[in-house]
Parts: sequence; C-alpha cells; structure tokens
Amino acid sequence: MDYRKPVTFGENWSPSRYQVLPYFAVERAIVQRPDVQRILDLGCANGWNMSRFGQYGRASVGLDVVMERLQLARAHGPVLAASGLALPFADQSFDLIYIQHVLHHIGDVTQSLHEVRRCLRPGGVLFLVETVEDSPLIRWGRRLYPKWMGDEINAPFTFAGLRQTLADAGFQVQEAQQYSVLFWVWEIFPDQAPLMEKLTPLFVKLERLLLRMWRKYSAHCFYVAVS
Ligand SMILES: C[S@@+](CC[C@H](N)C(=O)[O-])C[C@H]1O[C@@H](n2cnc3c(N)ncnc32)[C@H](O)[C@@H]1O
Repeated sequence: MDYRKPVTFGENWSPSRYQVLPYFAVERAIVQRPDVQRILDLGCANGWNMSRFGQYGRASVGLDVVMERLQLARAHGPVLAASGLALPFADQSFDLIYIQHVLHHIGDVTQSLHEVRRCLRPGGVLFLVETVEDSPLIRWGRRLYPKWMGDEINAPFTFAGLRQTLADAGFQVQEAQQYSVLFWVWEIFPDQAPLMEKLTPLFVKLERLLLRMWRKYSAHCFYVAVS
C-alpha cells in the first residue's frame, strides 16, 4: 500500500485479495464488542485500519510519527503525531490498541509494549498484526530491501519468538495464527502491473493450497493478546 495516497478499506484492493487475510473476521468481532469503545490505531499511516473500524461502527484515534500520513488518516477520525515509544495518554485510556505492521519498525519493542500495556485498561486487548521471518522469502526480501516505504525495518520477528515477547511483556495470548505463504509477493505486483489484479482469484486459490502444506513458512501472523 502506498501511504502517500488517501485510502479507504475495500477501495484499494479487489475483495478477493482480502479473502486470504484471516484476521479481518477476528478483529471485527472484537471491535464490535460492547466493551470495546476506545480504540487506538498505533502507527496508523494513512488510516486504512481506521477506515475499516469506521465501517464496523466504531470511531478510533490514529497515531503516527509521519505528519503527511496523519493528514490523510484525518479523513477517518482524530489523529495525533506521537511515538509508540512514549504514548501521550493516561493509564488505561483504551479498550483496544491495534498495531499492524508497526512493531518491526519501532526499534525498542519492549518499551513500546510496556506503553501499550500501560494505556490499556485491565482486560483490554492488543491486536497485533506482524510480518515474520519464518518465511525464507521475506527473510531474503528484507536483506535486499531493509526499508519499506522509506521506513527502516528493525526487528526480525519469528512467530514463536513474538509470542514469547508478548508473554514477557505481561500479555496473555488468546489467539494467534500464521497466514500467507506468498501473499506478500502477489500483494505487491498488481500495484506495479495492474493487469495482474485480474489474476487475483487464481492467486487466492494457490495461497490456500500452499497454506495447507507450508503454514509454518508464512510471512504474516496476528495475535489477540489481553492485558
Ligand atoms: C508499514 S506501516 C503500517 C501502517 C498501518 N498500520 C497499516 O497497517 O496500514 C508502519 C507505520 O508505522 C509508523 N511508525 C514507525 N515508527 C513509529 C513509532 N515509533 N510510533 C508510531 N508510529 C510509528 C510509520 O510511520 C508507518 O506509518
């Protein structure tokens, strides 16, 4: 996704691309829980997740360190320029803190998780979506391209290692899943060659087949962790 452009969930990719991302159904159920009202999207960029939460019927606050991205995210709710390493909120300010593909940029993961836990109410939820280097493809990709959209990649997570990191930070992992063996590759190409978008249904089928055989080599994962 190009963070320099406005974005709304459902408008940038064909719906079939979303079918291989299992976390949408899980996050939707959490976001719509009656006890989940105060939501922070940490590292919101241009507000893709915020737009989705709006479609689920919830407002959210976006936070990022890049002003240009926040200007775009503002279309989907209130935003704040600040770092996830020092959250400018009182203790227990949120019911849900959502972090998608941000922790691998942030540098001090322990400090960030400490801040997240401080700002969640007891029993509040951290929803974490991450990229993991269990996949040899993503490992090599990151050696070749140590930046994504100009942002340094600082943490080579593994699925098991990240689970341990969450436990060490005091979170209880309630649900975790690895997904997408090749998705991150065919996610990128259609943006360069729009004709490939037509092949998406084929890739979806291939992705499902590969997952059955090689889930442990997946490049993505998500965790639902309780404070
Ligand atoms: C790969 S993007 C993900 C954006 C968004 N969460 C999504 O999934 O579409 C990572 C975002 O994290 C932000 N970021 C990096 N370091 C940060 C920090 N210390 N505090 C807050 N945001 C940060 C970057 O500016 C960038 O917008």
